Amino acid sequence: MATRTATFPDDFRWGAATASYQIEGAAHEDGRGESVWDRFAATPGKVRNGDSGAIACDFYNRYRDDVALMRELGLDAFRFSIAWPRVLPDGRGHVNAAGLDFYDRLVDELLAHGIEPFATLFHWDTPQALEDAGGWPVRATAEAFVEYTDAVVERLGDRVHNWMTHNEPWVCAWIGHAWGEHAPGRTSEADAVAAAHHLLLSHGWAVQAIRRASPHANVGISLNLAHAYPASHSPEDEAAAWHVDGGGNRWFLDPIFRGAYPADLLERNAIVEPLIEDGDLSAMATPIDFLGVNNYFRFVVGAGAEGPRILRDPEALHTDMGWEVYPDGLHALLTRVADEYAPPAIYVTENGAAFGDVRGHDGRVHDPERTDYLQTHVDAVARAVADGVPVKGYFVWSLLDNFEWAHGYSKRFGIVYVDYPTLERVPKDSFYWYRDFIASRRDAPRPSPVAAG
Ligand code: FCB
Repeated sequence: MATRTATFPDDFRWGAATASYQIEGAAHEDGRGESVWDRFAATPGKVRNGDSGAIACDFYNRYRDDVALMRELGLDAFRFSIAWPRVLPDGRGHVNAAGLDFYDRLVDELLAHGIEPFATLFHWDTPQALEDAGGWPVRATAEAFVEYTDAVVERLGDRVHNWMTHNEPWVCAWIGHAWGEHAPGRTSEADAVAAAHHLLLSHGWAVQAIRRASPHANVGISLNLAHAYPASHSPEDEAAAWHVDGGGNRWFLDPIFRGAYPADLLERNAIVEPLIEDGDLSAMATPIDFLGVNNYFRFVVGAGAEGPRILRDPEALHTDMGWEVYPDGLHALLTRVADEYAPPAIYVTENGAAFGDVRGHDGRVHDPERTDYLQTHVDAVARAVADGVPVKGYFVWSLLDNFEWAHGYSKRFGIVYVDYPTLERVPKDSFYWYRDFIASRRDAPRPSPVAAG
């Protein structure tokens, strides 16, 4: 299947994404404090196989080799996150210079190899000290996040020009605070709603803080979004899909782009309104430069006796996460977000697939399903670009196999295989596909100004 490379603009960024707790390891090095994920992983029964991010891919010590791999891949951009407990081991107050030094070295290494850093400030590793003081359900954590943002941007803002405040606040709020399947493992809907509010609020405040310190920075947020298709055109199914869209997508898109929670959500969730203080909604809607879209699947939603039901098509291809492979869902999502919310720019900041990879007798890792997934999703992005959606870049999740949260190391998303006992890196076939694809874009004859008309 041909990928329509011609529709990508010349300055489109090809990247790969990662997150601190999932790859860094070095949990006790250089003064890093405890994070909620250290605590959660150490709690029996929370993470599959008792795994933790204590060693992970040891990126903290091996980043130079990994940047060399990125260079071989031909990446334009690398998305990573900064571990708050490395920078402020107690959440606020004392800044640990040695923690910031690591990101300083990483950024310099990336820049020396011509790779643009895209830094996420928060990818779920809240300092445990802040959780002990109430965590995201309390407003003070949003204030602490600004203190942390100031410390990071002051140190890196001269070289990092692309920032994401948060990664997937929905997942942090709901899976971590209502469902108890992610750190900090709470099971209270009220906590989830309050956490979502303070994540949104701290996002807006952090955008303002980044702009104060670094006026020309490119600032955004990464949301997990999935297009919700009604199972049929019946009003019941359409309403069910709208409901699911509200809980996952609009809950975050509306405050950020419209400065308001969706009316149907406020009606359904009486606990939201009392959280809103003067100025909160306008802070959340502080203008951003780009929206980061993390997308893996779509939803098909039908009305059920006890509310909306997510339907599963048994005929469809599913990944090792049980997620349906449906590239057109990414195209539908991007066009819808552009039409309804008009972000100035969009980056696909995560997209990829887990499959049960093994290292073959030839020493290599053949992952045709992942290559196909990436190719068809890149093609969906190309179609969105051709339709006028301002997508400026695409980041594969992930560069390396890594700690997949409650699944531990059992799910492999990397385009580079990690042999955990030895930490050896083995580029998979999808790595070579991506490398060749990026190279072909560079070599592609550029349309002449006349021909381009
Ligand atoms: C996203 C997360 C990322 C990774 C992928 C598979 O929800 O942002 O850390 O776990 O899913």
